[in-house]
Amino acid sequence: MSSHGATPVPALARRSAALKGRVRVPGDKSVSHRSLIFGALAVGETRISGLLEGEDVLNTAKACAALGASVTRLGEGEWSVHGVGVGGLRAPEGVLDFGNAGTGSRLMMGMVAGNPIAATFDGDASLRRRPMRRILDPLEKMGVEVLDAAEGGRLPLTLKGPQELVPITYESPVASAQIKSAVLLAGLGAPGETTVIEKEASRDHTERMLAHFGAEVSVEPYGAHGRKVTLKGRPELKPAPIHVPADPSSAAFPLVAALIVPGSDVLIEGVMTNPLRTGLLITLKEMGADIAFENERVEGGESVADIRVRASTLTGVDVPAERAPSMIDEYPVLAVAATFATGETRMNGLSELRVKESDRLQAVADGLAQAGARYRIEGDDLIVTGTGTGGAAGGGTVATHMDHRIAMSFLVMGLATDTPLKVDDISFIATSFPSFLAQMRDLGALIETEAVPA
Ligand code: S3P
Repeated sequence: MSSHGATPVPALARRSAALKGRVRVPGDKSVSHRSLIFGALAVGETRISGLLEGEDVLNTAKACAALGASVTRLGEGEWSVHGVGVGGLRAPEGVLDFGNAGTGSRLMMGMVAGNPIAATFDGDASLRRRPMRRILDPLEKMGVEVLDAAEGGRLPLTLKGPQELVPITYESPVASAQIKSAVLLAGLGAPGETTVIEKEASRDHTERMLAHFGAEVSVEPYGAHGRKVTLKGRPELKPAPIHVPADPSSAAFPLVAALIVPGSDVLIEGVMTNPLRTGLLITLKEMGADIAFENERVEGGESVADIRVRASTLTGVDVPAERAPSMIDEYPVLAVAATFATGETRMNGLSELRVKESDRLQAVADGLAQAGARYRIEGDDLIVTGTGTGGAAGGGTVATHMDHRIAMSFLVMGLATDTPLKVDDISFIATSFPSFLAQMRDLGALIETEAVPA
């Protein structure tokens, strides 16, 4: 089990003066997990720089090592992975513990599937509640055996890859990069072509990295918003250097903080601007946010930019459901921004939020209630009625439910509420953004962790 969680660490955010300065948030979590996984499947050494050294990713590193790869930390964010090749994984001796990480556990189920070995996957209480059937269903179609699983196919579970995996064409019932990636990673070990069809395109880091490591992969449009991805199985993956750009999902926190704290002016450096990750930026711009891309460039195969944000007067908007995959992790912090906007912001089609690290739809709603904000849930839609700058009252205690993004979102909110806002546990922030407190404080954010009443 992960190292934290036993003793909750509360924190209090207070109305802050203008946030100012430059910040470089840690490496992208999605790219970091994948760089370790692909490094472990390549033959030879892959060098990674800018790796996110958060707990989620470190658990992936440990699991790759347990499966036979040699994974070494060379310096801050600098890692070396000596891979064992597609089909070359060895059976791990112990349980693979992914802590809080849905991405690590789900992608590595696909990775293990292409090897005739058994492996047991486990995680913390949050991960044990999350649905895994969505991964097991396609993997079983490919010939994987589920030897053991908790009720409903949840963790802890044990998988065994077959001698000969069957390539499939899989139409994913939900737009999820985790499902797509698990099937493609399994497909690496299958003879012939494995195809994944999604009606709404999800983040494409797996496809990009497959190509970067020398696999034959093709991507075609599918319907109005979808994609069809086809991979030729059993390639020899060649090691390729990876530079991990800054995580737009982490950048979202200083970004929204700068928008809602009056007078702020912040530059967030080197943020990945992959179009399948920029739904929040598009939405905030529609709301009137003063956000500018500077120094746009390509780094390590991904587009990046320095993002300059100035405090802005925001107006509520309607966020279409089809935008959800490109901003799925950003709704909690968008809901915070929406409380400081004039009028209603309607976020449509949020069913997937219910199966994240927490039931995020409920956790956001409860947090807004604690802060005295106005909102309603209609089916899977969240509607927040903002009051303009000055926003919500604050004052309450937000339950974070082992969810890093709930903790960070409401700490951001407390920087602009009338009275301080408390969150009950910030320990899970270490899963994705270990330097959050220090970096936010550098910008001028007033966040206290000492002497906060539990
Ligand atoms: C991720 C995909 C998303 C996202 C998660 C990271 C990935 O999940 O919420 O934080 O790296 O593939 P889904 O694909 O299940 O929506």
